[in-house]
Amino acid sequence: MKANETAPSLIVGRRIRLRELEESDLGLIANWRNQPRALQWFLSSQRIDAEKQIQWFARYRERPDERMWVVETADGRPVGTIALCRIDVANRCAELGRVLIGEEDCLRLGYAKEATCRLILYAFRELGCDRISLEVLAGNEAAICLYESCGFRSERAIRNVASKDGASKDVLTMVILRGEWLAAEDAQCSIPTDCGQTS
Ligand SMILES: CC(C)(COP(=O)(O)OP(=O)(O)OC[C@H]1O[C@@H](n2cnc3c(N)ncnc32)[C@H](O)[C@@H]1OP(=O)(O)O)[C@@H](O)C(=O)NCCC(=O)NCCS
Repeated sequence: MKANETAPSLIVGRRIRLRELEESDLGLIANWRNQPRALQWFLSSQRIDAEKQIQWFARYRERPDERMWVVETADGRPVGTIALCRIDVANRCAELGRVLIGEEDCLRLGYAKEATCRLILYAFRELGCDRISLEVLAGNEAAICLYESCGFRSERAIRNVASKDGASKDVLTMVILRGEWLAAEDAQCSIPTDCGQTS
């Protein structure tokens, strides 16, 4: 657990659990993140460098506004990552980020959706957020469909703001609001409110 954190380090779902990132995970997440199929969809196209990653982790551990988890299957296999960034308790908002299923044989099995839904639940219920936003590169259909299926809606597109392989790309901001989420049963990802726990 991060030195300055009192929040749960484990979020337990039905088919997955979210375990807080540890230093020993860094090599694995660098391998996932450095795959071309992942790199193409992150705002930074830079491959993760081991030394810089250790420095990043040291800063991350001190930051109260960022939490990152490893997505594990129920039997403990690490398959991906997810994070909440820019957690702003005073303004009751946070950003979803670092969503990645790194193990190719685990794509399209619903793990990313359950992980995202669990974090929505956690952010609204336990962090008291009213708004969760995220940024996604235009054209990332897998991610946009995933986020829409969890209840996020496009709020705006910022044009030509990211450069990928020499071409300018648009970035979409997607948002889910607590009020709308509570009102729409579908947007709660069919997760019963008593299911899942944190520890
Ligand atoms: C985006 C990503 C995390 C989705 O992971 P996943 O394991 O395929 O997602 P799930 O199985 O939980 O799918 C949930 C929903 O996402 C959507 N989806 C996932 N992959 C899709 C694809 N290739 N095409 C269209 N929709 C897709 C579907 O709506 C799906 O629901 P369905 O299977 O019931 O139709 C994965 O493709 C990935 O790691 N991509 C690279 C990194 C990335 O782009 N991260 C997001 C940065 S903003």
